[in-house]
Amino acid sequence: MKKLHPVGLLHSFTCLLLCATIAPARADIRREAKALVNWKTSLASADGSLSSWLLANSTSPCHWMHITCNADGSAIRKLNISDASLNGTLDEFDFSAFPHLKKLVLFQNDLYGSIPAGIGDLASLVQLEIIKNQYLMGTIPRSIGRLKQLTTLQLEGLGLDGALPEEIGNLTSLRKLSLYSINLTGSIPSTIGALTKLRLLHLRNTKLTGCIPLEIGNMTELLTMDLSQNYLQGQIPDTVSRLVKLRILELSKNQLGGHIIPELGNSSIISYINIARNSFSGAFPPSICMGGALTVVNAEYNRFTSLDDLTFQNCTTLEHVEFTENNIVADLRGCFGKSLENLRSLILGKNQLHGTLLTDQGEVFLCNSTYLELLVLSSNNLHGHLSKCLWDLPYLQFVDVSSNSFSGVVPFSATPKLVLKSLHLANNNFRGTFPSVLKKSNRLVTLDMGGNNFSGAIPSWISKRLPRLRFLLLSSNMFDGIIPPQILQFRQLQLLDLSKNKLTGPIPNDFANFTGMTQEQVGNMTYRFLQAEKLQIVWKNGGYVYTSTIAFMAGIDLSCNLLSQEIPKGLTTLLGVRYLNLSRNHLSGGIPRDIGNLALLESLDLSQNQLSGEIPPSIADLKDLGTLNLSSNGLSGRIPTGSQLQTFLDPSIYSNNHGLCGSPLQDCVNPSASKQNETDQDEDRETLLLYCFVAAGVIFGFWLYWSMLLFCNKPWICEFYQQIDNIQDKVITKIAAYRSSGLE
Ligand SMILES: *[C@@H]1O[C@H](CO)[C@@H](O)[C@H](O)[C@H]1NC(C)=O
Ligand SMILES: *[C@@H]1O[C@H](CO)[C@@H](O)[C@H](O)[C@H]1NC(C)=O
Ligand SMILES: *[C@@H]1O[C@H](CO)[C@@H](O)[C@H](O)[C@H]1NC(C)=O
Ligand SMILES: *[C@@H]1O[C@H](CO)[C@@H](O)[C@H](O)[C@H]1NC(C)=O
Ligand SMILES: *[C@@H]1O[C@H](CO)[C@@H](O)[C@H](O)[C@H]1NC(C)=O
Ligand SMILES: *[C@@H]1O[C@H](CO)[C@@H](O)[C@H](O)[C@H]1NC(C)=O
Ligand SMILES: *[C@@H]1O[C@H](CO)[C@@H](O)[C@H](O)[C@H]1NC(C)=O
Ligand SMILES: *[C@@H]1O[C@H](CO)[C@@H](O)[C@H](O)[C@H]1NC(C)=O
Ligand SMILES: *[C@@H]1O[C@H](CO)[C@@H](O)[C@H](O)[C@H]1NC(C)=O
Ligand SMILES: *[C@@H]1O[C@H](CO)[C@@H](O)[C@H](O)[C@H]1NC(C)=O
Ligand SMILES: *[C@@H]1O[C@H](CO)[C@@H](O)[C@H](O)[C@H]1NC(C)=O
Ligand SMILES: *[C@@H]1O[C@H](CO)[C@@H](O)[C@H](O)[C@H]1NC(C)=O
Repeated sequence: MKKLHPVGLLHSFTCLLLCATIAPARADIRREAKALVNWKTSLASADGSLSSWLLANSTSPCHWMHITCNADGSAIRKLNISDASLNGTLDEFDFSAFPHLKKLVLFQNDLYGSIPAGIGDLASLVQLEIIKNQYLMGTIPRSIGRLKQLTTLQLEGLGLDGALPEEIGNLTSLRKLSLYSINLTGSIPSTIGALTKLRLLHLRNTKLTGCIPLEIGNMTELLTMDLSQNYLQGQIPDTVSRLVKLRILELSKNQLGGHIIPELGNSSIISYINIARNSFSGAFPPSICMGGALTVVNAEYNRFTSLDDLTFQNCTTLEHVEFTENNIVADLRGCFGKSLENLRSLILGKNQLHGTLLTDQGEVFLCNSTYLELLVLSSNNLHGHLSKCLWDLPYLQFVDVSSNSFSGVVPFSATPKLVLKSLHLANNNFRGTFPSVLKKSNRLVTLDMGGNNFSGAIPSWISKRLPRLRFLLLSSNMFDGIIPPQILQFRQLQLLDLSKNKLTGPIPNDFANFTGMTQEQVGNMTYRFLQAEKLQIVWKNGGYVYTSTIAFMAGIDLSCNLLSQEIPKGLTTLLGVRYLNLSRNHLSGGIPRDIGNLALLESLDLSQNQLSGEIPPSIADLKDLGTLNLSSNGLSGRIPTGSQLQTFLDPSIYSNNHGLCGSPLQDCVNPSASKQNETDQDEDRETLLLYCFVAAGVIFGFWLYWSMLLFCNKPWICEFYQQIDNIQDKVITKIAAYRSSGLE
């Protein structure tokens, strides 16, 4: 008998041992491969990346696309099928075949049907991401609660609906829960408080209703809570103060209300609070910055009524503050008089703030905010002067102090550091000449000084010194003198509003360099604070134009001045303008023949001038014209016809012109009308001729009879015959007149 070699023995033993462990492992991966191929065949289609999924080719799927195996190749660890145009359902996916799967990612495909309950069989799953499969419907299965190992759950951009199952609270290992842009019904289950390891809670735009559960305060590891864009109601629960690690609180666009708990700012690390667009009321809590890390607070569109003197004390880290459209009654300097040295944007429009903003005493808060970029104080009750320190802030790009009671002259600074892109001074009591400090603002895009008491001439340097200007609004001031011809050197200007001033002289004529209006504005302008732009222009009978549309807007308003001479023909080369208002001036001459070239024109007002001649027929080419006013001029002739013009039924838009006729005014007496009635007239003429000839015969006979009977020596008889002759002449003249009118 052969003696067994000890080494050989050992060898066989090792082999046996290995085979014993490998065999079931091989079985596992074979089962997985089979399950995948099975599912693949159930799909209507997929892109080429799944063509490697073939059982015949290889026993191991570890080299297939989208698949990552364990280090020893014994099982699939990760299945990430992204952008593979999967068209089919998950119904045939045998989840139970993947007991070792740790990550499942299905990103951007065309899966439909629902998420099967079998997904709960993925016993080892740590990460589940199903994102951007908009046809995936149904509810989140309750079985999801069985995924005990899950640390990341992301369901985003799916067609799901139904409630968030309370089994979500069984996922006690979860660190990241992100449900975004799916339509959930019902409220946040209170079981969510069991997710005590959660660091990121993201339930944005999921249509959730009801209150924020108290239990949310149990998620003490939470760093980010985003419940924005839902229909949540009630108050922020007090228990939120237990979230001592919270850095980001995002609750905007809900229906939350009540008071804000003072402890909100207690967290020593909270840095971002957004509660905008809710119904919070009362005083904004003091010491919001107590934690010492707050950088952003956005509370716009709420009903807060006051800010405490202490609210922004110690806010040395604060960068962005927004309180637009609340009802805050407070002294601005009381609340923001502290040194907010890191402040970048301060947005307080539409409140009832009072007091002065800035004085020249040098003790102001804002002048120390070296990094300030955006300042919006519009629509408050502020008064006093502007300080020149504004021009010395090296990063300031956007200033809106419109609709307050600020007064005085716009201060001058010899060495301004202006990087201003947008300056809104409208609707205050500013006076003085055009601010010369703007000579240095060569980055300015928007300048709105309307509704003040500015006077003097519009300086000829503006186009040269403000080469990037797109929006220039100087209306409702007391500017006089001529419109400097240099104004047409603005190459990017889209809006020119000089209305309601005392400007005289002609409208400059050479538009060759006025390229901002020569073509359609496609809204390609971008700059950082474009979103904050809001301008008031007279547009289709008045109104505001907001950000989204302002970039597309182009137009000219010179109304209500003392401008004279003709409307320059060059205006009709500005093919991009959407509105043109030259009303209430002393313009004479005709309406330019090519007015119809302005194909985008939606609003045209030339009323109350001394325009004469006919309305050019090309006006009927203005397909988008929605507002037209030509009244109170000296226009004459027929009103042109055209499908768009037919929609103007109100005759007052043509009224007070001596010679206009045609719809919607009274009909013109015109050749075509007389032609229609020509047959009637012919008949009339024949009858008249017959009558005349008979009459002439009778008269002639009568005259012959008397002359034969009596001698023509009696004066009264001659006079009588003379009269008869006259009648005869008149009849003949009338016939001649008829004939000529008929030939016309
Ligand atoms: C088998 O797989 C390899 C690698 O993925 C591929 O190059 C080959 O074409 C496949 N063979 C068949 C018959 O599909
Ligand atoms: C999944 O794959 C896509 C593209 O192949 C990749 O961008 C993404 O990071 C992957 N996701 C995970 C969780 O591995
Ligand atoms: C999926 O496939 C079906 C059947 O081939 C087809 O009707 C449907 O349009 C496809 N869906 C998408 C999103 O391509
Ligand atoms: C959610 O519902 C709205 C209608 O309320 C619908 O327009 C939207 O497409 C739905 N979103 C998804 C992801 O199904
Ligand atoms: C899972 O969640 C349900 C509903 O919240 C609960 O009744 C059940 O006890 C939980 N199961 C486990 C094992 O925690
Ligand atoms: C969770 O929060 C609720 C209410 O705040 C509390 O009653 C409960 O004891 C907390 N549960 C745990 C496990 O801490
Ligand atoms: C908030 O901070 C203040 C001062 O540190 C402290 O007295 C108070 O107890 C804190 N409140 C909460 C709810 O932690
Ligand atoms: C501001 O800081 C000072 C000094 O640390 C402190 O005494 C004061 O209470 C703080 N004020 C607020 C409103 O937090
Ligand atoms: C502004 O800064 C100056 C100098 O750094 C300082 O003296 C002054 O107190 C500061 N003003 C405010 C309101 O903090
Ligand atoms: C247009 O601009 C050019 C170059 O700046 C200048 O030479 C020319 O005079 C301008 N034309 C008009 C009409 O302003
Ligand atoms: C934006 O539009 C203007 C004309 O309106 C054009 O000159 C410019 O090149 C465009 N810029 C971009 C980035 O498209
Ligand atoms: C034609 O004459 C009739 C009768 O005189 C009159 O009622 C009608 O308005 C006239 N038609 C036109 C087009 O003038």
